[in-house]
Formats: sequence, C-alpha cells, structure tokens
Amino acid sequence: MANEPSKYARLQIDGEEGEIELPVYQPTEGTPVIDVGPLAKSGYFTYDPGFVATASCDSDITYIDGDAGILLHRGYPIDQLAEHSNYLELCYLLLNGELPTDKENAEFVSTIKRHTMVHEQIAQFFRGFRRDAHPMAIMCGVVGALSAFYHDSLDIDDPEHRRITAHRLIAKMPTIAAMSYKYSVGQPFMYPRNDLDYAENFLYMMFGTPCEEYKVSPTLARAMDRIFMLHADHEQNASTSTVRLAGSTGANPFACIAAGIAALWGPAHGGANEAVLKMLAEIGDVKNIDRYIKKAKDPDDPFRIMGFGHRVYKNYDPRAKVMQQTCKEVLEELGVEDDPQLKLAQKLEQIALEDDYFVKRRLYPNVDFYSGIIFKAIGIPVDMFTVLFATGRTPGWITQWNEMISGPYKIGRPRQLYGGESQRDYVPITKR
Ligand code: SDX
Repeated sequence: MANEPSKYARLQIDGEEGEIELPVYQPTEGTPVIDVGPLAKSGYFTYDPGFVATASCDSDITYIDGDAGILLHRGYPIDQLAEHSNYLELCYLLLNGELPTDKENAEFVSTIKRHTMVHEQIAQFFRGFRRDAHPMAIMCGVVGALSAFYHDSLDIDDPEHRRITAHRLIAKMPTIAAMSYKYSVGQPFMYPRNDLDYAENFLYMMFGTPCEEYKVSPTLARAMDRIFMLHADHEQNASTSTVRLAGSTGANPFACIAAGIAALWGPAHGGANEAVLKMLAEIGDVKNIDRYIKKAKDPDDPFRIMGFGHRVYKNYDPRAKVMQQTCKEVLEELGVEDDPQLKLAQKLEQIALEDDYFVKRRLYPNVDFYSGIIFKAIGIPVDMFTVLFATGRTPGWITQWNEMISGPYKIGRPRQLYGGESQRDYVPITKR
C-alpha cells in the first residue's frame, strides 16, 4: 500500500456531529482507493455484496483496465506475452516480478521439470473415485491432499518452503490433470517426460499410451502453452480471492489452492468454458440464436450467454482476442476450420455485439468464450475444460498467496448487514 494518503475523503452522516476522515491512496495504475478501516471505530460497516467497489488488498502482480481492455502481468501486456513469451517464462515473471535471464530461465525450467512427478501413493487416491467422477472433484481432493506428502516444507513463514511449494504446484498440476483424464477413460497413467516442454508434456500425458510412441503436434503444443498463459493470473477474481482468504488463516498452500480450484469450478467463473460448449450444443443451430438471445435478455429467465460479460472488462477481454486467433490457427491446423460450433459461436458473438441489450451493458466475449472450442478440437473432453483453467491459473494463485504471506496480513473476517430476528426467548415444544 502507498505509505502516505494522497488526500482524504470526509464522511458526514445525517444527524451526527463531525465527520469521519478516510485516507485516499493512489495506485501506480488504475483506481484510487478509500481506506474505510477508520469506520471500524465509528459504529458503521461498509456494505458491498459481491465486492463490486471493494479492493480487498494491495498487489503488484496483475493490472486490469476493464474499460480499455488491458491486462498487464508485472507491467507486460498479455498480447505481447502471448506472442513473444511462453508459459514457464510467464510463471517466472509472476513469481519473481521480472523476466528471467537466459540462465535464470534455464534453471527455472529445469527445476519445474524435476518436480513434475507425483508420489506413487497419489495414484491410489484416484481408485476411490468412480470412473465418471467429474475431474474437478478429483482435482479438489488430490491437490488438497498433496500437503500430506510435504511435511518438510509447510512452514509458510519460510521463503524457501514457499518457493519449493510454488514450484511443486506449477510442476504437478498438469500431471494430476492428465491423471484425472486417464482415470476417467480407464487408460494407464503416463509418467511425465523431462525431454518435453511444459504444454507438450501435458498433451503427451493426456493422449500418449505405453503401447506406442506418441508425437505431440508442435502447433497444438504451442496453442496449449498459449492457453495456459491466457489463464495464468487475473487480479483479485473469485478463486484468487478464495485462495487469499484461505491463506489469511495460515492454512497450508496446497489447501488454499484446493479452495481456489473449488471456487473456480462455478459456471459463473472458470466453469464457464464448459458451460459455453453445453450452451452451443443446446442452441444447436444458427436459426435458434435469436430465440436464445431473447432468453438471455429476459430477467426472469436464468439463461445467460456463457462466455459473455465480465465484472471488470467493459470492453473486449484482451485474452478473448488472443484466444479467438488461436482458435482459428488450431482449427486450420486440424483441418476443421468449418467446425459448426465455431461458426455458431462466431454468429452468436456477431449478433450479441450488435444487440442493444449487450451494447448498453457493455457485455463482450471473455476468456471462456472460445477456449472450449479449441479444447474440443484438440480432443479434450468438456468436463476437463475447467481443469485446464485451474492448471493455467496455478502460478497466479500461488503468486498472489505468496505476496500476501510474505508481507504483513490479517485474517480475512468480513461483517454483515443483519436482517434476522432480534433476541427472543426459547419456547418449549409443548407451547409452540
Ligand atoms: C471468468 O473475475 C475474473 O477476472 C474472472 C475471470 C478470470 O480470469 O479469473 O476473468 C474468469 O470467470 C470469466 C467470466 C466467465 N463467466 C461467464 O462467462 C458466465 C456468463 N457471464 C455472467 O454470469 C456475468 O457476466 C459475470 C458473472 C461474468 C459477471 O457478472 P457481474 O459482474 O455480477 O454482472 P451482472 O451479473 O450484474 O450483469 C450486469 C448486467 C445484468 O443485467 P441487468 O440486471 O443490468 O439488467 O448484464 C447482464 C446481467 O443480467 N449480463 C448478462 C450476461 N452477463 C451479464 N446477460 C446475458 N448474458 C450474460 N452473459
């Protein structure tokens, strides 16, 4: 947080003497904040369900300008990173605040590669799930259970423990993700290979078998790497805020990331990529689009255009633009550029962007609108889509957690506007 307030907000309350002085702090980019902490002594709480106008923390990691459609990771624009960088370099940037030198990059890549295996006992966890268990349920359970294997490095106040944990999580998420897929299709788990790059290794563990050599398409590996990059971090979204809140109690980082995975699962958040494909399947044909746009605009109809809208972006999500380009590249590479669901999605996007309801509410495609179409084209099953989002988001979660734990922090404990019963006496059942 800025050391000195740039000015003060003064709150006057009808019928009360004086005013409450609230410090205002200036960011390096974006929206200034009013520190409402002094309200605690005033007998009032702030009230902001959904945290529409609430900054929960100060952070130096990621900056989003929702009006301009800008996303910066440690100051670098996501479109430049997507074009020139790669996922592990972005992980290093998020964790360390600067792009790595050649030597630093080589060391980091080597470290991550040497943590990709999971303890052999982990494989037993999968046996307890039904084969048709949703892989996000498996991810919540297995990632949370990782803490049971690392008693040697769970001291959250030890920077070295935090560092090794960050490396373990980034390295092992693709392995666990691929295992959850292999378990669902009854194929043997594939061990990670240190001669493969990060995304290439993931696709190998997903689609390789022990029976024959499996060569990953360089185009698909590059697309997968870029998709991981587009999901890497995103300021204080619902799942990251969940990781921070869990972390504020001193819980171990594996448990905090498992909490983040659980929060991401919801269709209003990371579950939207899976929901987009289900929505496109329900719409079925371009001729039905108008009927579904009408449903989306009906306040009494719960139907929403999944993959559209965002709490922060009131312009194009810059990740959606890169995702759309990647989608075209992948489908061309696979010779399915005429994929009917892509055509349906493009038509839906075009109609929605011209419709006054969406224009007035500044609703644009978000990161989830096209990702599912790419995943489906690569051969990823729909129920694995959010697992890939969680895998991509892991460096963001663990960096945000580390930023909080490595500085002064307090346990997160919001209050409420109580609307329940005032105190009343117990009534014996014989008198009710
Ligand atoms: C992610 O926070 C992040 O950064 C998240 C994320 C990340 O990287 O971590 O970017 C990832 O979660 C992307 C969002 C994925 N979710 C979806 O695509 C689900 C569909 N979108 C909506 O559920 C919604 O847009 C949210 C949840 C994303 C945002 O909800 P808000 O900010 O609470 O906005 P809102 O619901 O108050 O909507 C404002 C208006 C409402 O209409 P009115 O009450 O003003 O008449 O817009 C309408 C909404 O009904 N609206 C939509 C809509 N999204 C909002 N109407 C139709 N279709 C939609 N998709």
